[in-house]
Amino acid sequence: MKDQLNRRSFIHHAAVGSAAVAFLGSKAPMVMSAEADKPAMLGGTPVHKGSWPGWPTWRQSWEPAVIEVLRSGRWFRGAGEHVEEFEQAYAKLIGAKRCLATASGTTALLVSLHVLDVDAGDEVIVSPFTFIATYNAVLINKALPVFADTDPATLTIDPASIESRITDRTRAILPVHIYGLPCDMDPINEIARKHKLAVIEDACQAWLAEYKGRKCGVLGDLGCFSFQNSKHLPSGEGGAVTGDSDDLLDRCQAFHNCGRAYGNFKGPRPYFTRGSNYRMQQFQAVILMQQFDKLIQETEIRRAHAQHLTEGLKTIPGIQTVRLPADSKPVWHLYPFRYDADQFNGLSRDKFIRALNAEGVPCGAGYHEQYFDGLLDEAINSRGFKRLFSPARLKAYRESFEELKGNRLVCNTTVAMTQNLLLGSRDDMDHIIEAVRKIHKHSAALAKAS
Ligand SMILES: Cc1ncc(COP(=O)(O)O)c(C=O)c1O
Repeated sequence: MKDQLNRRSFIHHAAVGSAAVAFLGSKAPMVMSAEADKPAMLGGTPVHKGSWPGWPTWRQSWEPAVIEVLRSGRWFRGAGEHVEEFEQAYAKLIGAKRCLATASGTTALLVSLHVLDVDAGDEVIVSPFTFIATYNAVLINKALPVFADTDPATLTIDPASIESRITDRTRAILPVHIYGLPCDMDPINEIARKHKLAVIEDACQAWLAEYKGRKCGVLGDLGCFSFQNSKHLPSGEGGAVTGDSDDLLDRCQAFHNCGRAYGNFKGPRPYFTRGSNYRMQQFQAVILMQQFDKLIQETEIRRAHAQHLTEGLKTIPGIQTVRLPADSKPVWHLYPFRYDADQFNGLSRDKFIRALNAEGVPCGAGYHEQYFDGLLDEAINSRGFKRLFSPARLKAYRESFEELKGNRLVCNTTVAMTQNLLLGSRDDMDHIIEAVRKIHKHSAALAKAS
């Protein structure tokens, strides 16, 4: 939770006193005096002195629709039409046949795992470089999240590391389009077909991201989205499952609504199947629906600014920008790059981050090796998991974390900035590039400073 909370609390702080979102195009030239050339951490002037766009942002024009729901008293989905309207509109937006709105991204994952028959004692191949909810969703189903490795060039699941981890218990593959970077889905789907496994995309950070002309969320059996406050399409909390199979989506609807029959998924009595309450509220639906145009516009701005950043940053020795799968379009929920301390005179990543923060550029280290944090030890030492898996399997599982060399590298060398920075001006992007260049130039002095 730490990374996520840090990210969320950063966004909250960034929102305080921030200017309205600045769009593309301002062109003030940068003048570097001797004082400005000195790193801010060593007493110089920060490259970026202003604030950054806050998040979330909203428009006054949205208020009447929210008030209308409030005054109607029809707040839950069973009493009104807005959640269903949202489902249809979101399905259309991402090119899916169907969509189910849920209470959160986590519950979207829980619904998907359930309807794809991930049961107690099963295994799911998971991206380790993700928010902890991806691990938790599998664990809550009393299944084992088996980690494939992360490709250090793309920061997403390395398809070549999946097959060796498949056992006779494996039911599904759960790739994560982390930071809005599309996974290389073709080889993943091919492996899944070969071994008859389901594919659930964790697209919780990837609204409108594209892979080979199709949007993330329609590339596997089911896709899961989050609309939590920090997300590009936020409603405080919220989520969605998307897909093209009527049968699966009927099952999703039933499971998320206490097991009530839905569509063709019906039985002799209304509650004939297991279920829970993972429903979205009407308030969330109207807030979400009003943001589609904003999401589309801001996605274009983030993409343009990320490209500008990439062009500038990749010319600085020691900065490795991400490699994207062919014919893919990311949406940059965070803008990450890998940092090589050797090219910065041994300046540690931690100090590099502090130096960049001092220059007025908020950034952090992203996800760490969370499988060593104890939650998986707690799970595999629990009564339930010990009943479900043999001691030999649990021992081998625990030992397998050490094999995740790509993920370790990524966790130890990544630096990431949150999406709201990309909504600044073109000059703000130049400030980021200039700040990194300045730190590189003075890295020997910074490495010596305490
Ligand atoms: C990759 C990923 N998966 C799952 C989730 C869970 O979504 P939620 O917080 O809406 O439950 C998140 C949310 O941050 C996420 O980033």
